[in-house]
Amino acid sequence: MSFVGKDSKRSIVRNFGSHVSSGKVDFYTAIDLDFVIGKRRGSWMYDVSGKTKLLNCHCNGGVFNLGHRNPELIRVLTDALKELDIGNHHLISEQRAKLGKKLAKVNPPGLSRVVFGVSGGEAVDFAIKLARAQTRRQKIIYASGGYHGHTGLALAAGADHFKKPFEPLAPGFVEVPFGDTETLSKVIDEQTAAVLFETIPATLGMPIPPDGFYKEVRESCDKKGALLILDEIQTGLGRTGKLWAFQHYGITPDIFTIGKGLSGGLYPMSATCYRDELDSFMRENPFIHVSTFGGAELGCPVAERVLDISSSRAFLGRVNTLAARVENGLDVLSQQYSDILTEVRQLGLFIGLKMNDQGYGPLMSIACYNSGLFAVYADNDKSVLQFLPPLTISDAETSFMFRSLNRAYSWARNNPKYLELARALVA
Ligand SMILES: Cc1ncc(COP(=O)(O)O)c(C=O)c1O
Repeated sequence: MSFVGKDSKRSIVRNFGSHVSSGKVDFYTAIDLDFVIGKRRGSWMYDVSGKTKLLNCHCNGGVFNLGHRNPELIRVLTDALKELDIGNHHLISEQRAKLGKKLAKVNPPGLSRVVFGVSGGEAVDFAIKLARAQTRRQKIIYASGGYHGHTGLALAAGADHFKKPFEPLAPGFVEVPFGDTETLSKVIDEQTAAVLFETIPATLGMPIPPDGFYKEVRESCDKKGALLILDEIQTGLGRTGKLWAFQHYGITPDIFTIGKGLSGGLYPMSATCYRDELDSFMRENPFIHVSTFGGAELGCPVAERVLDISSSRAFLGRVNTLAARVENGLDVLSQQYSDILTEVRQLGLFIGLKMNDQGYGPLMSIACYNSGLFAVYADNDKSVLQFLPPLTISDAETSFMFRSLNRAYSWARNNPKYLELARALVA
């Protein structure tokens, strides 16, 4: 049986507009970006018509860290299908137990507990629930312009434009600017259950934390008895050149969340890892947070393999070698296009290209598309193009990526008339 390209592109777009999202069809039609994902392999996505292919430099925020349809992971999943299904979330499970043990092995000492979920939002929701239940406090401090998902508690820790239409949301959430320890120290108190940050906030345009930031955050939390929750949903799994991005900063969170690439892009899976000492609430209330599909058994062997690969010395070595090459290439580009590209934000292959106008993020997304790259601007700082190539990208693909990026910048520079339109498009 085959699934891709059974229908004409025109009819797919019509049916999608009629039954799934008319708004998305309107948006993409307006910018002439009618890509419909068909075949996909490794670093590439092919349009269903077979006419266009794109090097994926967004990777759904890390879902495709190991490429599309990674053959090794497909083998694990198809083997798992011979014996397993989702399992039963009420019962003790061999597969969940194995994955829990694997996480404990790759995590820093002491972070050996886990609750599984399906999505990143669900993982963050549980992190907040655990922090509140365990500390018996309510206040959650989060970064302005961050993003933790579309579910209830995670949404309450997000930017206004994502949450306003759905108010009233859960109370007790207080916003601080990311990277500002002075404001944090004024807001954090004995009522604070947790401080919640993405280790580097992707939707805010990948601002790299200032020197010493996380040490100070950790100290503030410890002083007030608040927990530190880090969202590693985009930054985790080797993206920054270490397994977890917080390992760059010499601190350990009390709770952290994983999603996106944990499932290898094949089976939904997320996880909330936490310190052993925080287990008393869940021990007393083991059925208080249940998720039918959370940690589904079919996905567990895939996630185990993802963790084996992503934590291996050879894999992280390759990510760091690539990152050094990309850094050099971006250095050249930022000199060449210094009138547009004002800052390269990079940790490993977690990259934000900061430009000097809010129109440039959307404009460069379109310019990249026309040059064979898929990259998306940061929604809470549209002057930044998020740039997340697959961690498995080859040297030849990296060269293609730079040629395309160069073409895209050259086009953006030579077509300033579109800048105003791009600004209006996302206003
Ligand atoms: C940092 C971060 N946290 C949480 C989420 C929510 O994940 P999900 O869409 O799987 O619920 C996202 C999604 O983009 C994210 O980027």
